[in-house]
Amino acid sequence: MGDGGLRNGGRHSRRLPSGWTPARTLLGAFILLALTFYGLAVLFQGHIAGLEGTSLVTPIQLGNPGLAQKQVPEDVRDILKPTSERYIGPIDLDEAVAQRAEEVNRTWLASTDQSWWLEPGYHLSYMEDNPPYPFQRVKRVDGKDTGVLAIIAPFYDQDYYKGELARAFFWRMKASGHIIIIITSYQEFPGIIVNPFDDRHTTPGDRTIHEAVDGYLHCFRNPDSVLPPGVPRILLSESDFHDPNRRDGGGSLVPWGLPKEYDLFYSCQGGDWNDYARNWTLAKASIKRLVAELNVKVVIMGRDLTKPEDNDLSPLISSGHIISHGQNTPWKDFLRYIESSRVLFAPNLHDASPRVLAEALCLDVPILVNRHIVGGWKYVHSETGAFFDSIDNVVPAFRDIINGLQRGDLHPRGWFRSHSGKAQSVYKLQAFLELAVGDQRLKAAQELANARITY
Ligand SMILES: *[C@@H]1O[C@H](CO)[C@@H](O)[C@H](O)[C@H]1NC(C)=O
Ligand SMILES: *[C@@H]1O[C@H](CO)[C@@H](O)[C@H](O)[C@H]1NC(C)=O
Repeated sequence: MGDGGLRNGGRHSRRLPSGWTPARTLLGAFILLALTFYGLAVLFQGHIAGLEGTSLVTPIQLGNPGLAQKQVPEDVRDILKPTSERYIGPIDLDEAVAQRAEEVNRTWLASTDQSWWLEPGYHLSYMEDNPPYPFQRVKRVDGKDTGVLAIIAPFYDQDYYKGELARAFFWRMKASGHIIIIITSYQEFPGIIVNPFDDRHTTPGDRTIHEAVDGYLHCFRNPDSVLPPGVPRILLSESDFHDPNRRDGGGSLVPWGLPKEYDLFYSCQGGDWNDYARNWTLAKASIKRLVAELNVKVVIMGRDLTKPEDNDLSPLISSGHIISHGQNTPWKDFLRYIESSRVLFAPNLHDASPRVLAEALCLDVPILVNRHIVGGWKYVHSETGAFFDSIDNVVPAFRDIINGLQRGDLHPRGWFRSHSGKAQSVYKLQAFLELAVGDQRLKAAQELANARITY
C-alpha cells in the first residue's frame, strides 16, 4: 500500500508541466514565508539570548531573606551551594511546622473570603509526563502550580544520558529559582538502595544534589544517618496525604462497614523487585506459621502464586486458607479487600512508608508491621497495631492485635484522623516550605510558575 502510494506520487510529479503553474506559485509563497520566519527568528535571537544572559546572572528578584535565609542570594551561584551554607534555622522543623500549620488553619478559618481558590495548603501532584519521574510538581490544593518541585526517587542509572538529563534538569531548575525538595518515598533513598533488583541507585556524585535541595520530607527513624547535615526536614510522607474522608468513583477510604472475611491482608505485586521490597520470603514463612498455629485465612493481593517456586503454598490454596487475587484489581476493590480483613500485614523492610499502611488505618484495619521497616513505623501504636521482628514472634504479635480488637482497644481510623491525613498534611507542607525557604523565595517560585508554566 505505502509503496504503491509513493510510486504513484513520483510519477505524478514527473508529469508536472513547466512554467508558472498554481503549484509553483504555492511553492514560491511557501519559500517566501519560510524565509520571513527565518529572518524574524534571527532578529529575535539576540533578544532571546540577551534575556537568557541576564536571567543567568540575576535570575529572579529573591527579595528579603525571609525567616530562614542567612542572606539574599546575590546571584545563581549562591542558590547552587549546599543548603547548609545558606540556612540557619533549626534542622528538625516538626514542632515549628505544627505550630505554623495551626496558624495557617486559624487564619483561614477566620478569613471572611472562603472562596475555594483561596484555601491554603500544598500537596504533591499526581504523576505527569513533565517534569518526568522522579520529579513531581508540588501544587496548591486548588491545583495551581507553585514552582516547587519534589524529587521522589533516585535517578535512573542504567542509561547514562537519562541520568544526566535528570541531573542537568535539577541544576537548571534550581538556578532559575525553583524550589526543590526531596520526599523520601523510595526505599532508602537518598541513602544507599540495597534492593539488588533496582535500576535506580544513589551515586556518590548525587550527594551534591542531596546537599543542595531546599528540604526533606522524610520517613526515617534516624535521619542523621541518611540525610546530609544542615538541610531542614520534617517527618512527613506521601502516605500522610491520604484523605480519610475520600469516597468517590476511584475508591473509598471511609469504611463501608463490610463484614470481615479474612484474618490477614498482604499485598505484593510480584516480580523480583517487589518480592524484595515487600519481603516475600518472610511473608510466606509467616503466613504458613500463622495458618499452622492459628488456622487463619489470608488474602494475598497482586502476586501470581501459580509458579513452581510457590508450589509449597498449593495445599493452603486448596484448603481455602489462602485466597489470591491478581494484579488487575481496581483500587476501589483493593480497598474493599483491606476492609474485609481483620489485620493488614506488612513484613516489608526495605520500604519507605507503604501506602497500604495509611489505607488500612483509614479503613479502621490494624497493621502488623516489621519493626525494622525503613518508613511507616510511625503509624504503629498501641491503638493501631503491633510490631514483629521475625517468624519467631509473628504469631504472638498477631494474637495481641486480635485480643486488642476484642477488647475494643484499637482505633486505627481515629488515630489516623487525629495524627495524619490530607487536611493536616497540606497545611504542614505549606508551613514547612514557608519555614525552610522563606516567603520571598516561595513567592518568587510562584511567579516563575505563573509566568512560564502553561497548564
Ligand atoms: C525480611 O525480614 C527479615 C526479618 O525482619 C529480615 O531479616 C530480612 O532481611 C528481610 N528481607 C528483606 C529482603 O527485606
Ligand atoms: C482547624 O481548626 C479547627 C478548629 O480548631 C479544627 O477543628 C480542625 O481540625 C483544624 N484543621 C486542621 C487541618 O488542623
